[in-house]
Amino acid sequence: MKLKLFLIVTLILALAVPAMAEPIVIKFSHVVAVDTPKGQAAEYFKKLAEERTKGAVKVEVYPNSQLYKDKEEVEALQLGSVHMLAPSLAKFGPLGVKEFELFDLPFIFNGYDDLHKITEGPIGKKLMTKLEPKGIRGLAFWDNGFKVMSANKEIRSPEAMKGLKLRIQSSKILEAQMRQLKAIPQVMAFSEVYQALQTGVVDGTENPPSNLYTQKMHEVQKFVATTNHGYLGYAVIVNKKFWDGLPADIRTALDSAMVDATKYANDIAKQKNDEDLASVKASGKSQILELTAAERAAWRAALVPVHDEMAGRIGKDLIDEVHKATGFTK
Ligand code: LMR
Repeated sequence: MKLKLFLIVTLILALAVPAMAEPIVIKFSHVVAVDTPKGQAAEYFKKLAEERTKGAVKVEVYPNSQLYKDKEEVEALQLGSVHMLAPSLAKFGPLGVKEFELFDLPFIFNGYDDLHKITEGPIGKKLMTKLEPKGIRGLAFWDNGFKVMSANKEIRSPEAMKGLKLRIQSSKILEAQMRQLKAIPQVMAFSEVYQALQTGVVDGTENPPSNLYTQKMHEVQKFVATTNHGYLGYAVIVNKKFWDGLPADIRTALDSAMVDATKYANDIAKQKNDEDLASVKASGKSQILELTAAERAAWRAALVPVHDEMAGRIGKDLIDEVHKATGFTK
């Protein structure tokens, strides 16, 4: 009798308490600070994704290389240990997708409008399809900004770069760019740059102001030149098998969260970089070298030959297509 009662009560309880399914966890790893365009957009995506799936999805964002550094994170994505990343476009070469390095060509974009002709147009779409055979799906391009050059020397002219050891991301175009300046490029993970600058392992580096400021690189660099000589931005990517295996309604909700997070990222990127450059200036730790139009023209003349020099790596047709889309002229 007692057992019967127990079974009935258990059954009633089981029916009364709705099944509490475990949420689907999406691990989103990245290497920059939270207070950057990418860091903020990742947090915004998390908020929208959790709201729009009504808690069926939990997004865990790991900033600042907490989980993985540059090279490891892509391997971790392919293995499925992490589900979502937003590596810089300069970091796809080692994966065998060299075409993404077109974004590293010096002076290729004359501002965000030119950039968006590629990231929001057919060339951007075509680039994303190249990730599929690697088990990766590209969801969106997120903006960051145009790079400044920093060093402990007054680097107003391209000639001043001669002989300096400069940290670069893992891109052959960036390597060629530094060699064009007769500088010595050194590939290094983002998480190691501050210390390398501080200890003199490298003399200088390049990054948009948002990365320079939030990593405190300006505290260990005497000069920052507003060269705006190249672009740094991101592709948001996911493990294809994981993404395709999500229930269709969940994926639709996540896709819509990504559309809005992308708009958010691209809305804040320029402002964030302008503010962070102003903060570097206000800090008084490094001197900002505002280049005149003539000085910037000298950097452009020195670096544009990299486009032809590296056509073999990226593909001449692709570079011509980009030049045509943006109206680039030498
Ligand atoms: C760098 O390594 O300098 C950047 O790619 C970091 C980032 O993700 O913005």
